[in-house]
Amino acid sequence: MPLPPKWSIGYHQCRWSYESEEVVRTLAQEFRTRRIPCDVIHLDIDYMRGFRVFTWSPTRFSNPKKLISDLKENGFKTVTIIDPGVKYEPEANYHVFDEGMKNDYFVRQADGRLFHGYVWPDKSVFPDFLRADVQKWWSDLHKSLTDIGIAGIWNDMNEPAINDRPFGDGGVHIWFPLDAPQGGENPATHAEVHNLYGLNMAKASAEGLIKHRANERSFVLTRSGFAGVQRYSSVWMGDNQSQWEHLEISLPMLCNMGLSGVAFVGCDIGGFAGNATAELFARWMQIGMLYPLMRAHSAMSTARHEPWVFGQRVEDICREYINLRYQLLPFFYTLFWEAATTGAAILRPLVYEYPDDPKTYTLYDQVLLGSNLMAAPIYRPGVEYRAVYLPDGTWYDWWTGEKLEGATHILAHAPLERMPLYARAGAVIPMQPVTQYVDEHPLNELQLRIFPGSSEYILYEDDGNSFEYQKDIYSTTKISVCTEGERVIVNVAQRQGEWTPEKRQTIVEVVGFGKQSFEDDGNSHRLEFSDGSL
Ligand code: NOJ
Repeated sequence: MPLPPKWSIGYHQCRWSYESEEVVRTLAQEFRTRRIPCDVIHLDIDYMRGFRVFTWSPTRFSNPKKLISDLKENGFKTVTIIDPGVKYEPEANYHVFDEGMKNDYFVRQADGRLFHGYVWPDKSVFPDFLRADVQKWWSDLHKSLTDIGIAGIWNDMNEPAINDRPFGDGGVHIWFPLDAPQGGENPATHAEVHNLYGLNMAKASAEGLIKHRANERSFVLTRSGFAGVQRYSSVWMGDNQSQWEHLEISLPMLCNMGLSGVAFVGCDIGGFAGNATAELFARWMQIGMLYPLMRAHSAMSTARHEPWVFGQRVEDICREYINLRYQLLPFFYTLFWEAATTGAAILRPLVYEYPDDPKTYTLYDQVLLGSNLMAAPIYRPGVEYRAVYLPDGTWYDWWTGEKLEGATHILAHAPLERMPLYARAGAVIPMQPVTQYVDEHPLNELQLRIFPGSSEYILYEDDGNSFEYQKDIYSTTKISVCTEGERVIVNVAQRQGEWTPEKRQTIVEVVGFGKQSFEDDGNSHRLEFSDGSL
């Protein structure tokens, strides 16, 4: 995967739909007034004129450019949904349909007739994304969106999904024909290349953004894909429901995606269909803090699912966990770098790190972020205690600093405010102060939260937004931790590489020992912690 923009690792808010400019502005303001960090707002299908892709509703979004630029001023990036179904609309001056017809870009049936199915815009036709010329055409269509400031694209329904909407053609159920040829000369059939449809759509989106937002990294999200989709897009797991079982299963689903090389993944926080209870939403936000893609989303006709709609207690919990996500951004970003350079999963099942421990083989309800931070979330109503397996070694309770010895099971206390979280001995967790969005202001502080033990950690940093890192404008800092008798020694090595952060203090906390700080001049620093430093 390429490195995504840092803002896309922040919190995303979505709903089907924030259906007008006014609703979107109010939403954005709520986040800022309530001091709940948020970087991204997604616009679902209702921003369009009658669900025609690459158009805007002239009544509900009369001036999208102004809206997007005002949102940007306020620290929000805007992401728009794009579906593959193009409204079938001859002689109506709908440029996407007209251009596609003129160039014969849409999928035809085996007998040569144009294929149509029914999706949101009613009768629709489908680009043949297997063709390079169609991909190029589609990618260039994104210019109309990037020109007005759109920073990311959300691809949906790109299996392509048409099978659940038999409206039109007298209610006859239309399936995507398995023998429909795709790919131009020497075509393959849909049966052969079905899995590539979503992949190639995401590829076209990614390439369009790279071309038309050439100086900044963009964000792509897709529902459908295939092996290798991580090169173009992040992926979410589609339409889950506001049920405890769906919260539970999100962890093995996302871990499996990570094991398959697709590290930038998430599930709809709160559940897409149905109404979340306050308790479910709070627990989901805690788990969502762990998702590489942290996006809340909800369906049309469900109750609103923003962090503040469930009352003060849940709002405070949401704020606390979104704040924690923002504090952990240097840690997450380094994990994204690791994923981008090695293919490693970001969210990991325990077996990934402990392949010799059979107890981890079926353990799916605890997860690791990287190799050192382990969460054991609550995913049932009314539950305030749960068993936690601590693999071999020494662990620390993230919240209390209590030292715990594995391998063993412990009983964790987890009132609603608390998601059990543990750090492995020697863990170095780079953190930063809470901001309301990623680029709110330059950071004059880097915190290294260290748990006593022995280890080496590499912190990765760059500007978080441009492609300069591809020209080696980034830096790495090696941090080594060791224990000598009663003392913990932390070595922060000289910063390597071409990127220099803002002037800042580095605050090193060795949990249970105390804090020391130094001005980060890029040189090496050796710090000793003993009980006396407390
Ligand atoms: C299906 C997607 O999975 C969902 O996230 C979206 O809100 C709806 N389509 C409407 O666009």
